[in-house]
Amino acid sequence: MGGAPGAWMGIALSVAKPATMTSSSPPATGGTVVDRGLEGVVVGATELSNVEGALGRLTYRGYDIADLAANATFEEVCYLLLFGQLPNAYQLADLGVRVAANRALPEPILEWLEATPKGAWPMDVLRTTISALAMFAPHREHDGAHPSNPRSAIHLIAKTPTIVAAWDRIRRGLHPIAPLPSLSVAANFLYMRTGKMPIPEAERALDAYLVLLADHSYNASTFAARVTASTRADIFAGATSAVAALEGDLHGGAPGNVMKMILEIGEPARADGYVRALVARGERIMGMGHREYKVRDPRASHLQEMARTLGAAFDPRWYAIARALEDAANAVLHEAKPGRPIHANVEFYTAPMLYSLGIPPDEFTCLFACARMAGWTAHILEQLGNNRLIRPQSSYAGPPATPWLPIGKRGSAGTTGLGE
Ligand code: COA
Repeated sequence: MGGAPGAWMGIALSVAKPATMTSSSPPATGGTVVDRGLEGVVVGATELSNVEGALGRLTYRGYDIADLAANATFEEVCYLLLFGQLPNAYQLADLGVRVAANRALPEPILEWLEATPKGAWPMDVLRTTISALAMFAPHREHDGAHPSNPRSAIHLIAKTPTIVAAWDRIRRGLHPIAPLPSLSVAANFLYMRTGKMPIPEAERALDAYLVLLADHSYNASTFAARVTASTRADIFAGATSAVAALEGDLHGGAPGNVMKMILEIGEPARADGYVRALVARGERIMGMGHREYKVRDPRASHLQEMARTLGAAFDPRWYAIARALEDAANAVLHEAKPGRPIHANVEFYTAPMLYSLGIPPDEFTCLFACARMAGWTAHILEQLGNNRLIRPQSSYAGPPATPWLPIGKRGSAGTTGLGE
């Protein structure tokens, strides 16, 4: 592992801005809160990807995502992340065979999905099923741990799209379609949803999407995966933690809400009024802003181009509204939050792009998980390869030492605080 000596997994190895308590925090003992959101705090090293927020640059193991999006397949990126270098033709073919061989879901999982309420939220289904996969994988007899290695990573990368596509069909009252080994990850996903071979433009767009979202340094879900792995929990546990952390709309849950806005806006001319009303209500514009990028997210321009191209092939309305929405959001946020760099992030054009592929908005975050499973598993293996338990401190802000109060002396209020 490279990096400065001792720069591995020491908490708060470097702090990019002064440590402060927020003014609203209660008085605390036992240390100072560095930053509630760990903003600017370096908690570990990684060789996997580099986010250069001021420059708007993202690289995977040194390769710029602009080059990867234009030239690499998702399978090549999986290899790059898991094995540290781009594959040669033999290595890529071998990976493809292994991914294809791992796609099918265990029969009891399919039966269980068939029995799941049709209204279940796709991310709930995905999170639970990723966890359930562990029950069908080999484990050590003495402690139940599963092997965490590139093979189990490929197992998870291969099965995640199958879960998403199976649930997509089952909830529509259709039978899941078995994966086709001859297809790429992107083409196979689209095929498993519809039973039809995707057009090349659709396969290429989804493939580039998977490439662009495969990794992103220590984002919240990846950090959750690494924290879980640092306890020496296995790759299934780490992946389940990651899927759980992805769901919220401050992270991977935003694009479905971006599409909701686009559909509600309905036509480009209404974008400005819609955004002004939203910001006046104190709400956030989904798909805008980023913790790390102080300029436009470098993935956004690639996704924008794909949304434009797919829009031209299928339905140009969604891209047109998204463009108007971005312009309106930039103008309104410039007025409402002067001096704050809030630009389109990766989720913004993901919405019209995936919608053009026929994917429903409540599945967008699941597609994100299909891509990011490559990064999560690579990070888990990197963590386990040079592990130290991640265990930060907290600053205690509760009551001071308090004598024990017997139950008879705790008053007689008749409510529990839980409501009816
Ligand atoms: N719309 C409106 N205001 C926004 C905003 C948005 N999308 N993003 C940030 N802001 C504002 C906040 O309201 C806050 O303003 P204030 O200081 O006046 O209260 C300020 O910018 C800083 O926000 P903060 O939450 O501290 O920044 P962060 O670094 O935690 O934000 C995000 C990063 C992604 C959580 C944030 O930009 C956001 O909520 N975006 C919308 C959700 C989204 O797109 N999520 C996907 C992320 S890839």
